[in-house]
Amino acid sequence: MTFARMAEEIAAEAGEMLLAKRPARPEILATKSSPTDVVTALDRASERLIRDRIRAARPDDAILGEEGGQAGDGRVRWVVDPIDGTVNFLYGLPEWAVSVAVEVDGEVVAGVVNVVPRGEVFTAARGEGAWLAGERLRCNTGVPLDRALIATGFGYGAGRRRVQAEVLAHLLPHVRDIRRGGSAASDLCSVAAGRVDGFYERGLEYWDYAAGGLIAAEAGAVVEGLNGGPYGPELTICAAPGLFGELHGLLAPLDPERDS
Ligand code: IPD
Ligand code: CA
Repeated sequence: MTFARMAEEIAAEAGEMLLAKRPARPEILATKSSPTDVVTALDRASERLIRDRIRAARPDDAILGEEGGQAGDGRVRWVVDPIDGTVNFLYGLPEWAVSVAVEVDGEVVAGVVNVVPRGEVFTAARGEGAWLAGERLRCNTGVPLDRALIATGFGYGAGRRRVQAEVLAHLLPHVRDIRRGGSAASDLCSVAAGRVDGFYERGLEYWDYAAGGLIAAEAGAVVEGLNGGPYGPELTICAAPGLFGELHGLLAPLDPERDS
């Protein structure tokens, strides 16, 4: 079985479990980086299920997960966000996802984002395109910045948010509009599917973007950081090539990688 197929099966099973077990009001079990950065019992249960399935099928692979950290050191590593968009999950908003990526020798080769409440499973394999329900995905092209719908998100810390709000205030007059969906994994898939034209965010964790970054890139988007650097926690910018240049040009002088 391919990595993409295996990741898809595992993300599907985790999604079914989450839908079946989500109570009307999920309880907050713990907080992490700030009082608003929460963990529910089902974040942990989802990651446990995913880890169990990976270990059963491929015991030598390493696993990095949002809730359980790193285990193992194989050439193949699975990168897992058991619920991306936990705050949406908590409130019953339909924008949360199970994200599973597979790395070989440090390069992501397969990615799956299961946006569970919508029943949509985005998949990609490196060099083989990005797919949703049997359709090959292509990001929007030829959209000028002033017509672009741009998704973004915010971190959990007040100091980071102050700068993110400042950057957003500069950007907003120059674009069609902004969307804050609440799941970076899903946002990147939305770029792939042409549901937004671009995305940027500072402060993502690897599990937020490992799968979605490949899906967006395989759909033709440029996914990079500032000045041609790799995308990642400092900054992730994603859009079709022309728009990417305009968005980068607007963001770069704002020094968006700082915190206050
Ligand atoms: C968060 C979501 C959100 C993004 C945050 C992430 P979590 O992940 O992806 O859209 O803005 O930066 O931390 O906490 O829901 O897994
Ligand atoms: Ca996440």
